[in-house]
Amino acid sequence: MLTINEGENKSFRVLIKHVEEKKGTKNIYVNVTFTDGEAELSANAWCPASEFPYAGQVADITLVMKSGYVNIKSAIPVPTEDSSKYLRHAPINPESGMSMIYRYISEMNDMDLKTITEYLIKQNEDNFKRWSAAKSVHHNYLNGLLYHICRMIANVKNLSSVYALNKDLLMSAAILHDIGKLKELKMDELGSAEYTIEGNLYGHLYLGAIMVKEACRACMVNETSQNIQLLIHMILSHHGKMEYGAVKSPATREAYALHILDELDSKLWVYEDVMKNTEPGTFSQPNRWLDGAVVYNSDVDLNSH
Ligand SMILES: [Fe+2]
Ligand SMILES: [Fe+2]
Repeated sequence: MLTINEGENKSFRVLIKHVEEKKGTKNIYVNVTFTDGEAELSANAWCPASEFPYAGQVADITLVMKSGYVNIKSAIPVPTEDSSKYLRHAPINPESGMSMIYRYISEMNDMDLKTITEYLIKQNEDNFKRWSAAKSVHHNYLNGLLYHICRMIANVKNLSSVYALNKDLLMSAAILHDIGKLKELKMDELGSAEYTIEGNLYGHLYLGAIMVKEACRACMVNETSQNIQLLIHMILSHHGKMEYGAVKSPATREAYALHILDELDSKLWVYEDVMKNTEPGTFSQPNRWLDGAVVYNSDVDLNSH
């Protein structure tokens, strides 16, 4: 937990993930992202990058919170500490996650969707199981993409038993909807993600749609068959609205369901993540990824008050 309250000075042993030198109106400062292995935080330190520990180092940092802002007061490297202990992973065993995905693929009846889904996952398995799902915001750590997909496909199973949906289509799209992130992002060994050139230029919806089309050609699957066209539509529309990067608005029940499941999982992840930086029984600062909502850490026994 990396929690700090107004007026406090607090020290933590952390892994420095990213250090970016910036120029303020008067001084040079660094924006630093760091993790204790569970929570992650970004804060500024008022010194040039040459005077700050570098990414990959473990350091003892002292934070101070004033007027709602967290700053780094000091950072002292701890070269004797094993940095791998502080790497931030999704709470999932990558091998179990992959077997869950393969099990659901094996249950598909539609041969076109089954072939394409299996081909793309097998082709990209090594990256798929270790990739981060984002540069920031949701599931942005090692194995984050796999964790996001596994939570979504568990929901597809339940949703398809309640609503009359094309389960194979929804399952295939849930597995593949973010596959374009393998090209949109590159990752370093600390789990930090950066946008690639094609990621910046095209985004993962378009890149994912292209990957499906290429897979159709490689597997001799007719890319104009209805389910493949609907799958591509779902990848292109899963952000829901064009202002959030969707190429089209969801035009089918399955596309709408995929969008809602994606939104649900990413927003719940943000709540979970903010709680890691919020003391039990207290509220967070307004969170811009939750439309300014403050998050209450409800992991507290209310009966004890
Ligand atoms: Fe996405
Ligand atoms: Fe997603």
